[in-house]
Amino acid sequence: MTTYITTPIYYVNAMPHLGHAYTTIVADTYSRFRRLCGDDVRFQTGTDEHGEKIVQAAEEQGCSPREYVDRISAAFQKTWPLLDVAPDNFIRTTNAEHIQVVQEILQKVHDQGDIYFSEYSGHYCKGCERFLTEKELVDGKCPDHLTVPEEISEQNYFFRMSRYQDQLIDHIKKNPEYITPERYRNEVLSFLSEPLEDLCISRPTTRLTWGIPLPFDEKFVTYVWFDALINYLTGIGYPDGPDFEKYWSVAEHVIAKDILKPHAIYWPTMILAMGLTPYKRLHVHGYWNVEETKMSKSIGNVIKPGELVQEYGVDTVRYFLLREMSFGLDSSFSGEAIVTRRNSDLANDLGNLFSRTLTMIGKYVAGRVPEVDEKVVTDEDRTLIGSMEGMLASYQRSMNNFAFHRGLQAVWEVIGELNRYIVTNAPWELAADPAKKKRLDTVLYFLAESLRLIALVLRPVMPQAAEKMAVALGLEESMAGATLATAGRWGILEPGTGVAKGPQLFPRLDTGKQQQPKKKAASRKIEQPTADMEGLITFDQFGKVDLRVAEIIAAEKIKKADKLVKLTLKAPEERTVVAGIAKFYRPEELVGKKVIIVANLKPVKLMGVTSQGMVLAAKDTDEQGRERLVLSTVEGDITPGSKVA
Ligand code: MSP
Repeated sequence: MTTYITTPIYYVNAMPHLGHAYTTIVADTYSRFRRLCGDDVRFQTGTDEHGEKIVQAAEEQGCSPREYVDRISAAFQKTWPLLDVAPDNFIRTTNAEHIQVVQEILQKVHDQGDIYFSEYSGHYCKGCERFLTEKELVDGKCPDHLTVPEEISEQNYFFRMSRYQDQLIDHIKKNPEYITPERYRNEVLSFLSEPLEDLCISRPTTRLTWGIPLPFDEKFVTYVWFDALINYLTGIGYPDGPDFEKYWSVAEHVIAKDILKPHAIYWPTMILAMGLTPYKRLHVHGYWNVEETKMSKSIGNVIKPGELVQEYGVDTVRYFLLREMSFGLDSSFSGEAIVTRRNSDLANDLGNLFSRTLTMIGKYVAGRVPEVDEKVVTDEDRTLIGSMEGMLASYQRSMNNFAFHRGLQAVWEVIGELNRYIVTNAPWELAADPAKKKRLDTVLYFLAESLRLIALVLRPVMPQAAEKMAVALGLEESMAGATLATAGRWGILEPGTGVAKGPQLFPRLDTGKQQQPKKKAASRKIEQPTADMEGLITFDQFGKVDLRVAEIIAAEKIKKADKLVKLTLKAPEERTVVAGIAKFYRPEELVGKKVIIVANLKPVKLMGVTSQGMVLAAKDTDEQGRERLVLSTVEGDITPGSKVA
């Protein structure tokens, strides 16, 4: 099969940040996953370099647009290798070939009567670089940029988007997977239930010169979206390159919800006007906030991918982003959240399983993969094979549907099962009794073979850790060309293969402010099941957390932060706590509840409100992947301020 996966091409008016990194890691992971399925894959990203925003940013930096776009585009190109992101093509809209193709397309669409000249007046938002409809304004302002749009009246060229509206509706209805997750498909269909306005696709050169000149009227340049979307074609050699033939019909685009309209409406209608087949799928994800607050330059909470990698390592960053965000929903980034995932999922669950298994193979069976003796295979072993096969199936289904969090959840379920398998089979006891040698060999084979499969499925997500695992399992060469079809089944690991001493994949990170990897993790005696102390805390440590009952006496939503509620609590003194629960509770239902809070957290300022503590709550997702949250409350007659222990 063939796969063509793209990211948006990013505006060069800002340096790469967490949001760009997430989308690009998603596309990279999918490209690696499809390669693992044996596909011929093309993965493209790039930069969007025309338009007013860019001119403005260049002016602010005191340089020419050309110098400016070269500099920022280079910063994007340098960022991707740091994240182990390996695109096959990096496209820039200032490339001569791209410019030429955009002009050819404009001419064709113009010649067939789908572009016309007309007078237009409307509300122009500079931030969005487009005219907003009356309906889109909130209190007369652009809801995204919170600025009052300029009233502009000018003559421009328009693309007859309305002509393709019915065809587009029909296509979306006939292809349920065209836009996913479903909520975004519904959003698009609902937008399309009203008549579409035609799209203004030019800017007069009196207002903007940094753009692609219209081939049929040099007094105008092309509207940046009409130029940018075409990158998905120029990057594969449209109209007559061999890669275009090969990849266009399977094009899949990944974007965030902010640019749904250009991708789900402008782009498919443009494609229809060009006489091409629609792209295959559009995958839309939610937004990353930072500690429940919108990421923005002015708040100063922009997360830089390079710094993240330096602090946590590339595999941890990739795993965290893919595991933490339910694809389609918003998610919140925090240092604590990434350290928690690293220490519990990576260091404890996977890292310990791996190093324990390899150390036991080294110690008990001279570092060679032992042989299974069918006579001692138990029901538990057979169940384990079933679980591994179930994991492989659910992993593949989830990865294909962009439910990366679910795919990883399936992998971590078997990791948990394997850790329990070690405890129930206690290889250290089997090793102590020569009569149990065959059982010991069988148990160790089951562990090693399971780890081989785990390394295989983790390759798209954590390329470096997966490689280390494969090398340690003696699989280096056979893994290189392995696919899920050739290697994704039970029983491939050859007895006799030499395995290395278990490398430490993920040293634990300090949970304090300095989240640097510890130089050396505490040495453990793997023979003792009780010695597996990593991830546990002592009574003393637990005693430092001051958990208290607090009564909510007032609650109000925080303006401009759709997730946050300001709670006034009695515990027993009055205090303010900001909680990210606005989507799950209305303020009036909160008053009177007795919740559990962490009372001795350092105060933090969130959206201008000082939060003195944290309210405990449990979170999960329902069958449709929607987030759910329930506050931890206490029942019965208890005085606010009482200690919880
Ligand atoms: N240049 C246009 C895209 C043209 S595509 C033909 C553009 N560029 S952008 O630099 O603003 O990038 C927007 C994209 O960056 C989002 O769709 C998303 O992929 C990513 N993100 C930017 N901020 C984000 C978050 N806070 N969270 C998640 N992704 C976000 O729009």
